[in-house]
Amino acid sequence: MLGGYFPFANIDTSLVLVGTEVLVGAVVGYISWRIFYERVMSPLRDVPGPFLNSITSLVSNIQGALGKNHSYPIELHEKYGPVVRIAPDIVSISDPKDIRTVLATHDFRKSQIYKDMELVEPNTFSAQDPKLNSERRRQIGPTFTWSAMSKMESLVYKSGPGALIEKIEQLIRELGFGKSFKSVLVGHHDVIRWAHETVQLCIMYSIFPWLRKLPMVFPKWHESERNLLKFSTNTINERIELNKNAEKAKLRQDLLQAYLFATDPHTNIKMTQSQVMTETAVMLIAGTDTSSETLTWAVRYLMSKKDVLAKLLKEIDAAFPDKSVPIAFQDAKDKLPYLEAIILETLRISPAVPSRLPRDVPPGGAKFGGGDNDGYFLPEGVCVAPHVMASHYDPKTWPDPLDFRPERFLGSEAEANKKNNFGFSWGVRICPGRRLAWIEMMLTLANLFHKYELSIPKDLEHNYKNMDSVCYLMLSPKNAQNNCRISIKRRE
Ligand code: HEM
Repeated sequence: MLGGYFPFANIDTSLVLVGTEVLVGAVVGYISWRIFYERVMSPLRDVPGPFLNSITSLVSNIQGALGKNHSYPIELHEKYGPVVRIAPDIVSISDPKDIRTVLATHDFRKSQIYKDMELVEPNTFSAQDPKLNSERRRQIGPTFTWSAMSKMESLVYKSGPGALIEKIEQLIRELGFGKSFKSVLVGHHDVIRWAHETVQLCIMYSIFPWLRKLPMVFPKWHESERNLLKFSTNTINERIELNKNAEKAKLRQDLLQAYLFATDPHTNIKMTQSQVMTETAVMLIAGTDTSSETLTWAVRYLMSKKDVLAKLLKEIDAAFPDKSVPIAFQDAKDKLPYLEAIILETLRISPAVPSRLPRDVPPGGAKFGGGDNDGYFLPEGVCVAPHVMASHYDPKTWPDPLDFRPERFLGSEAEANKKNNFGFSWGVRICPGRRLAWIEMMLTLANLFHKYELSIPKDLEHNYKNMDSVCYLMLSPKNAQNNCRISIKRRE
């Protein structure tokens, strides 16, 4: 009877049993083969690391999906040393010399993971092909020189510290008149949110590339990606229209303008409109959270390290006694070396891009971790991943690494320590936006602490060493609303 409705009911149970046995056998056989291959035959068999990581990427992927791509490898490096196998074909390294070897040249190309994260088409960030990356960097290079950046300083001031100060003043005024906190703080943060959520989507693609085929997963992040790309396209179109009607001398001087006119000096090639769109979206992603997270961390550390804060205020007050005059970047750079050291120390202890910078080992292979022994040979094609934060937390390079100590970047050890700070990466793919970031960060911190007294609740003062953080490409404080609460008042 039942057979009429359920065709499977007619199948001989012994067949099912045999099928199950074959399946289980195949799975067990596959796992045994993998264990045998990875532990006995693989050229990476001697690279230290947890057993599970040598046979599967699962643990590393789960840690990444949980936002622990920064902290998990630190634990592994602490246990296993400067070379650790974090997945069957990925080796994390933390020794500064090894990291510089990998990042110095185009020999070690960016790994597939960058392609997996790609927005629309290959761009400065995602390009694996050194030729494309070099061409793009030559095109955008002139945009990011100190002299080009200095022309944008007033814009940076206006939209960064200027806007912040305006907001703080508005808060002080309006709260004084009984207006609600919310009405002042709620602004137009959509673009920042879109950029933030697009990063999260790209990170998920990099961990689980097959997710690209399932656009129904993470619908909110997909919408943000679409909005971000639409925003870039609209902004470019509006600018092109505006340019048509403006005299050349009156053209707005900003990054977008520079991109529209960017030309490779070797070939005279300009970017197509679609390339400008991709690059603009990448810049929005690469340039917003990175600087703002670094600023958040810097303020948070200053709140806990009263001695550091006192030194900073002394330096600012001595150099700029008149609080009504805004501090310009070049003046800050010349007169506030301690502030510069504070930012470097923030980039060391909480680098905005804290985790792996994966590259492929070139033909001929390479050896790493040779400091204490002969090192481990990695053959061509293996993914070698310099780990920024694990390197920054290695007590051999950075004594008492969890202590926020800007003095590391002053005095006789400063140059060596700057060389071991990979906050902006290193070598041929070093962050092209670093000068802009320096201007943003120096201007913001100098002017903020010049004008205002900042403090945090007593219960938070001492917990900076064990503050929780989360990493989706960029490092953010966890539960920032609570852990980074601050009070602000005008300085006398
Ligand atoms: C505090 C702020 C910043 C930090 C800490 C930072 C850090 C980094 C790091 C570590 C990399 C290397 C990533 C990798 O190889 O996977 C990088 C690359 C990059 N950054 Fe930044 N960045 C900052 C701000 C900016 C800004 C303001 C821009 C542009 C407006 C920018 C644009 C880029 C681009 C386009 C790349 C890719 C370069 C390439 O692969 O050739 N960044 N950044």
